[in-house]
Amino acid sequence: MQHRIVGKPLDRVDGRLKVTGEAAYTADVQIDNLVYGVIFTSAIAKGKVLQIDTSAAAAPGVVDIITYEQTPSLVKIPFFSPQQPQPTEKDDNIYYDGQHLGIVVAQTLEQAQTAASLVKIIYEEAPPTVTMAQAEIFEPESIFFGIMPGKITRGDVESGKAHADILMEQVYTTPMEHHNPLEPSATIAMWEGDNLTLYETTQGISSTQRGICAVLNIPPENVRVISKYLGGGFGCKALLKSHTILAAIAARKVKRPVKVVVTRSQMYTSCGYRSQTQQHLTLGATRDGKLTVITHIGTSLTSPFDDFVEPVGAATTMMYACPNLEVKYRLARINAGTPTFMRAPGEAPGMFALESAMDELAYTLNLDPIELRLRNHADIDPHTGLTWSSKSLKQCYQQGAEIFGWSKRNPVPRSMRDDHFLIGWGMASATFPSHAGPASVKVEIFATGEVRVQSGTQDIGTGTYTVMTQVAAEALGLPSQSVQFELGDSNHPKAPIAGNSITVASVSPAVHKAASAARVKMIQMAIADSNSPLYESQLENITVELGQIFLKQDPTKRDSYTDILRRHGLESLEVTEESSPNPDSKQYSKHSFGAIFVEVAVDELLGEIKIRRCVGVYSAGRILNFKTARSQVIGGITWGIGMALMEKTVMDANQGRIVNANLSDYLIPVHADIPNIEVQFVEEHDPYVNTLGTKSLGELPIVGVAAAISNAVYHATGKRIRDLPITSDKLL
Ligand code: MOS
Repeated sequence: MQHRIVGKPLDRVDGRLKVTGEAAYTADVQIDNLVYGVIFTSAIAKGKVLQIDTSAAAAPGVVDIITYEQTPSLVKIPFFSPQQPQPTEKDDNIYYDGQHLGIVVAQTLEQAQTAASLVKIIYEEAPPTVTMAQAEIFEPESIFFGIMPGKITRGDVESGKAHADILMEQVYTTPMEHHNPLEPSATIAMWEGDNLTLYETTQGISSTQRGICAVLNIPPENVRVISKYLGGGFGCKALLKSHTILAAIAARKVKRPVKVVVTRSQMYTSCGYRSQTQQHLTLGATRDGKLTVITHIGTSLTSPFDDFVEPVGAATTMMYACPNLEVKYRLARINAGTPTFMRAPGEAPGMFALESAMDELAYTLNLDPIELRLRNHADIDPHTGLTWSSKSLKQCYQQGAEIFGWSKRNPVPRSMRDDHFLIGWGMASATFPSHAGPASVKVEIFATGEVRVQSGTQDIGTGTYTVMTQVAAEALGLPSQSVQFELGDSNHPKAPIAGNSITVASVSPAVHKAASAARVKMIQMAIADSNSPLYESQLENITVELGQIFLKQDPTKRDSYTDILRRHGLESLEVTEESSPNPDSKQYSKHSFGAIFVEVAVDELLGEIKIRRCVGVYSAGRILNFKTARSQVIGGITWGIGMALMEKTVMDANQGRIVNANLSDYLIPVHADIPNIEVQFVEEHDPYVNTLGTKSLGELPIVGVAAAISNAVYHATGKRIRDLPITSDKLL
């Protein structure tokens, strides 16, 4: 297929709406007769609720106060199970600071806020478990509720160690981190009889629908979930959360629509987080740099009532050609909520450890870090033994090195200077699996010339509206302006959750399939129509451009979508198609790859680290839109810079309370922290993944950044920092 629109750097189709403020995000949706809900939470991290006294809170404007005692499912929202949350028994226990205990509903937001502050909760307090060191540690048999094993091995670790000339063992640690999307989580819940409509900040309209149905015990056809625009999710808006349940329950009880917006500080205890990790990593290698063994044991935190593992070894199993391997997980229960997915869960902290260790090994062996990686390049997936559907990691290294000027690097630490700055150059690899799920799409072509394409997918800020418009327009032979792509409504045909970087690979084949089917149906109508200039022509001789259908050999013989519909007396033509991942693609290992290069300047006296430039080269199959793809990468690398240098959630060791639950104390990068980021793609034509040849992209570019920066800091200073974030104090 010739690509006229797909691949072009089309501006975001929703860009104007967003910059003019016309795009209505969840909390912007205008609903009549609305009341405001404010959640009140536990102020201790462990103990029991003895009494909730709402007498002082029953102030003017307050419509209702609903406590967990009336809504028992609120105390423990099981994080995730194949069936999604189940209602639980009433439970007076406090498991963590910030646990939702109820909701105040009032006529105005201010009245609700004031009343919530007047709810008096009497506790029986107990000393919380706050740190990994204090916690009971156990090894889960399986992770993600049975989907993945808790321990993965291949070969023989002991023999791998015995065959190593060099054996390196280190501990790498990463702190608890929070998502901090620009848009906090919010819900507007509205009942009409037994039917519930949720305007919701979610990465998964279907997962929210399933979850709320399970908790409230209502059938899915009674619930509609709408999420038209999302100000970032990054994993914290993937699954049903308690504020949504509270809003739904409150709206049913007060018989009015209820709006709940989670406050910025509540975001730190209501929507999950990335767990702190402690990673024991062993690399064994021969003197010529061939890995003989890798062991990666990751300990992460979880809540008192759920087992969520940060799967730090996810990339370790497939990254390098090493015959002997062990990956194992351990969990530490503390008084905190359940962690959740956060952008590249597993790979982001895990590749910090692995790619730092590879740099350390390169220094030990006196090898260039790229050369060490090439010597251990996995030509096939070393764990499954499967062929890669496509892999261009070597080209990523090569192009990245070239653009960055890597050959001019003097590898000796502290050898490069600029005035009083120590200059360091570091690199690391990136990888992320490329999965997909089934998706359905409806295409309607109207006699007015308008075209509507619908799928129950989400645009979490990534550009789904834009790239799906491109795919549909191209398959229909229309300019992109003629196509209206709609998403974010559970009444649309079903599509998967926007998580695990699967949206493009799942939805674009379905859009292509449905739009192509609609085009063919139109052509067949023309062929069968004696009033059409194309009557009795052959399908394969006909093409479509700008909505005009014509004979390839004789373009004067033409018809159009609108004329065909009008002649048939039809207002529209409608086609719905579902696409599922190609079963043959299971014979291949599907991953995206990349390489990141950074230059740091470290102020020798102050220990201050400045990122001077970044070059990232990525191979993620076909790039449907260079502009939105590049934006994804810049966002990911920026996250990586934050992870490397700034982000850290701090819990008070006595109280078990997050002390920096706000954007002035929890540091994330601002524009001045981010240098020029040069982004390149090694475009691949992967015939195995899906019709369009697309692979995962969204989460890939955070992976490896922290390691590349840590490696650059070592090169600059001679100090190896194995504990994130790399702050000045650690360099002095
Ligand atoms: Mo992503 S962490 O799967 O939303």
